[in-house]
Formats: sequence, C-alpha cells, structure tokens
Amino acid sequence: MPDPNCKICGGTGMVCLDVPTSDPRFGKPYPCKCMEKEYLSRKSQKLRKLSGIKSASSLTFDSFHPERCRGNKRAMAALKIALERWSERPKGWIILEGPYGCGKTHLAYACANKMLDLKMGVHIASMPDLLKTLKDGIGDDKNDLSSRLDLMAQCSVLIIDDLGVEKATEWSRESIFLIFNTRYHNRLPMLITTNEPLDSPNSNIDPRIRSRLSEGANTKNSFCRYNKIECEDYRPFKEEE
Ligand SMILES: Nc1ncnc2c1ncn2[C@@H]1O[C@H](COP(=O)(O)OP(=O)(O)OP(=O)(O)O)[C@@H](O)[C@H]1O
Ligand SMILES: [Mg+2]
Ligand SMILES: [Zn+2]
Repeated sequence: MPDPNCKICGGTGMVCLDVPTSDPRFGKPYPCKCMEKEYLSRKSQKLRKLSGIKSASSLTFDSFHPERCRGNKRAMAALKIALERWSERPKGWIILEGPYGCGKTHLAYACANKMLDLKMGVHIASMPDLLKTLKDGIGDDKNDLSSRLDLMAQCSVLIIDDLGVEKATEWSRESIFLIFNTRYHNRLPMLITTNEPLDSPNSNIDPRIRSRLSEGANTKNSFCRYNKIECEDYRPFKEEE
C-alpha cells in the first residue's frame, strides 16, 4: 500500500520520472519511494518467515561474550570475528564442532540474525527440525516436498544446528544427502554445528557427508573451514540478562 500522505506521489504509489522526452522511461509510471519501503519491509517479512527464526531472537553477536567462555577466550574472540565476517559475505562451509553448552547454537543464530538484518535469504534449523519441516512444510505454506527440498538445497545460506542428532532412517539419510550434495556442487554457503568429531569411529553422520565436510581440511584456503571449540559447558555459569 502506498503512503496516503506521500508528498511525492500524492498517495497513488506511482510517479513519472523526471527524464528528458528522449528517454525510454519518459511518461511511464514507476513505483514511488514510499512503495520501496513497503517492498523492503515485505521482503524482510518474507525472509524472516522462511528463515526458521520464529520471534526476535536474543542469540546475537552482541550477546555473545568470548571473554566469558570456559576455555580459550582468545580463540573464541577470533572465531566470533570470523563468523561476523562470514555472515556479511558468506562463502564456503563452516563447521563448528564442540561439546555441550560451548556456544555453537548461540553463534549459529547470531549469524542467521545478522544475515536477516542484512536482508539475506537464510534458513536455520536443527537437523531434526529441518527434517520435520521437510515433511510438514513451513507455516501455512503446504507446498510439495520437492519444492521444500529445493528451498533447503538452494536457499542462499543454510545453517544446520546439531548435525548427527537426528534419527537415521533411509528417508532422512537420503534427504540430508541430497541437500548437502546439491549445495556442495553449487558451492552454496552453509554453516553446520555438531557435537561429533568428524573422525569419530562410531559417528552417526553419513560417511558421504563427512567426506564432503572434510574437503580441503588440510589446506589453507579451503572450501570447508573446520572449527573445533574446546570450551566447557557455559550453562552452569549463565546469568539471566
Ligand atoms: N560466550 C558466551 N556468551 C554468552 N552466552 C553464552 C556464551 N556461550 C554460551 N552462551 C549461552 O549458554 C547457553 C548454551 O550455549 P549454546 O546453546 O550455544 O551451546 P551449544 O554448544 O549449542 O550446546 P549443545 O551442544 O548442548 O546444543 C546458551 O543459552 C547461550 O546463549
Ligand atoms: Mg546447541
Ligand atoms: Zn509516494
């Protein structure tokens, strides 16, 4: 809806551009500036709806304090900076591996929230929730399974929290593989958190996925960047804010 009090278009939402008569745009109606705001807010509402973040989240970079981490605080400060940068220009895959309560979910949501602020298309979910979304659809939008798979496989950025905790069925294995493999081939950015070291002998993670996650692990400018968080559980030290 245009702004009824708009001084530029007088509430019609359309304007003619101030261009010479020889300009091909001369005399044609274009959306007014007051529609732009509406368009942006509609876009950000849509992105938020598809993002998997239900309400305003407190899990942001501002509320993540590396100096309070129960381990190597300098490494965590560097990781926070790297993740903030990655959120501004996401490229490649980032893996955050670490024990319970070390801050993986917090950092993953901080990235997603920052991307939403920058109006980037991002979807974040825990692996079990992602599989549930694949089965049931998002919100009221009960589109078919293949277009939901497309969303996961092709959205600009996908953030998966807790890879490896999902119940492995034939269907979940194949769906997860399809998502990872499509994103791998198209070089689409992703952030993955997990409790499981990738080389764990009794890993719950599909070996085909572990192989893709370890690409370039021993090189400098690799597609995947593996971050092992070696902090203890923060939860017992958490204060209400
Ligand atoms: N450095 C930190 N600054 C502020 N809050 C933190 C920090 N680290 C962790 N927290 C808080 O501690 C709690 C546990 O962190 P989080 O949920 O991110 O852990 P996790 O690594 O995902 O654990 P799990 O493996 O159990 O899922 C959260 O409420 C989070 O906001
Ligand atoms: Mg977590
Ligand atoms: Zn206007």
